[in-house]
Amino acid sequence: MSMSFDTLASAYPLLERLAAGEKMQRCRTAFLEEIPPPSCVLTLGEGHGRFLSACRSRFPDAEITCVDSSAEMLRQARRELGRRGLDETRVHLIQSDLLSWAPPRGVFDLIVTHYFLDCFRADQIALMVPRIAAAALPEASWLLADFQMAAHGWRRLRSQCILALMHAFFRVVTRLPARTLTPPEPFLKMEGFQEHRRIEMEWGLMKSAWWRRGAAQSPSP
Ligand SMILES: C[S@@+](CC[C@H](N)C(=O)[O-])C[C@H]1O[C@@H](n2cnc3c(N)ncnc32)[C@H](O)[C@@H]1O
Repeated sequence: MSMSFDTLASAYPLLERLAAGEKMQRCRTAFLEEIPPPSCVLTLGEGHGRFLSACRSRFPDAEITCVDSSAEMLRQARRELGRRGLDETRVHLIQSDLLSWAPPRGVFDLIVTHYFLDCFRADQIALMVPRIAAAALPEASWLLADFQMAAHGWRRLRSQCILALMHAFFRVVTRLPARTLTPPEPFLKMEGFQEHRRIEMEWGLMKSAWWRRGAAQSPSP
């Protein structure tokens, strides 16, 4: 049986609030005010639509394509748009498995993978990232918020415990394939993306990064 977030979809917003308050949303939207306004956005594993709503409000004219394998999550995303008084004009919600979905090539100037790549094993990330990168325009931005292992000391120990618990929970409830966290950074670098800006929260347990390709790079602070 493959991974499914259908059973978790209705509880996901509450679980998120209980576990992290607004921190996950702060990570999702950390660079929305700074990135060049996109015309064509692709969000992968969009889930309950909190990023989608923020993106729709910030860039009302952009075409936004959201792909998620969970029909229930896509329903949540649609409901979230409605709750915030946003309509679905120029929003395309596609139910598909991203392990087999082939996106159109060279179309999107913003790619978004929030709390998505950490669901997968290294071999699955290696399969998906080149396909996603091929869907991006040469100077595209890529926003990536995720959990991560903190670098040192008690912070590392803390993140190890929390990540082990999270993986165990999601493995039982959603049949998550990942047993450990695979850092996605090397895969993005292989596709020519470079990290442009990055913030960390929760003593290094959460990160949000803005990756770019093609454009003149300035070093991360
Ligand atoms: C941990 S949730 C993250 C949701 C949201 N992006 C967020 O920021 O919280 C992972 C999302 O990826 C979706 N997903 C998992 N595996 C997928 C796959 N193979 N293809 C497409 N979507 C998938 C799930 O349905 C779920 O909505």
